[in-house]
Amino acid sequence: METNFRVIEWRRYEVTLLDQRRLPVDEVYVRCGHWSAVASAITEMVVRGAPAIGITAAYGVVLGAREIAESGHALHQKAMTEIFDGLAATRPTAVNLFWALERMRGILSTTSGTAAQIVAALESEAVAIHCEDREMCAAMGAHGASLLPDGARVLTHCNTGALATGGDGTALAVIRHAFRAGRLDAVYADETRPFLQGSRLTAWELHRDDVPVRVITDNMAADFMRRGAIDAVLVGTDRITANGDVANKIGTYGLAVLCEAHNIPFYVVGPTSTIDLDTATGDEIEIERRPDREVTHVGATQIVPTGVSVENPAFDVTPARLVTAIVTEHGVVRSPYSEGLIQHVSMSN
Ligand code: MRU
Repeated sequence: METNFRVIEWRRYEVTLLDQRRLPVDEVYVRCGHWSAVASAITEMVVRGAPAIGITAAYGVVLGAREIAESGHALHQKAMTEIFDGLAATRPTAVNLFWALERMRGILSTTSGTAAQIVAALESEAVAIHCEDREMCAAMGAHGASLLPDGARVLTHCNTGALATGGDGTALAVIRHAFRAGRLDAVYADETRPFLQGSRLTAWELHRDDVPVRVITDNMAADFMRRGAIDAVLVGTDRITANGDVANKIGTYGLAVLCEAHNIPFYVVGPTSTIDLDTATGDEIEIERRPDREVTHVGATQIVPTGVSVENPAFDVTPARLVTAIVTEHGVVRSPYSEGLIQHVSMSN
């Protein structure tokens, strides 16, 4: 399904990003013509969501390479170190960022020719990463929808849609697919404190695409489940470790525990670029800590007394045992996860 808005747009030599900090009120765009502007856009959450971060960083590499080429310097790994390091330092948890940078590094080390030819090869790779993600979203949508009963009432967390990916989304692609097939009775988006990706972004994009969505606050989920109003929870992921542990937006773990308590399936939807076989368990994942202000303020309004300390971990880890199934572009993986995850990653190589 084509969305009626553009999230990441590449035009030689510039990336235009829909500024997600300004949604749902203003639809404004940020233009980045320099790799460091791309890095800042990722750190400051102009663009966010695991696959979208990877795609944007890949375009950042192209911009950096072009700058070096234009300055007349040779384009080799060493010259690009600052650019790769700067982009890698933007956000630590979503593995798609490092996966995309690794692909770009691979092109740099295997392409010979003039600086212009190397820039062109890097550009093709970044565009390929973007296009492949679009296709993976469509495949995940179809695989995931097959898990849902007819007339399903689903709950989702954070934003996992077109705003977070190169296509329809991960968990939201499943929701879009099931909606188009006439198989969804209700979609609940929890607001996802503190950055409010659910209420600001998921609600915005589903509403724009005429998918009926109801926003609930995070603390309502348990009550909705107890009353039998939720048939399945669908979430995206920022990193899946070799044993099937899942890092995702803070609050995801709580939903998984609630699902277990209410006997509701808890599905994780993510492309194979989110699977990190080099990390054994979720305990080893670096969890990003974001600025206090996201907790102490809502917009310009202060909601915590001055001088009071807060905590702001942006992600949590859900143990594999609480995950009913993981959906990738290749199909559905079920517990025990280790083997299935290896298989799905090898299908992409
Ligand atoms: O901090 P964010 O907004 O980048 O976090 C996004 C999420 O946690 C998503 O659920 C995740 O990236 C997977 S969706 C494609």
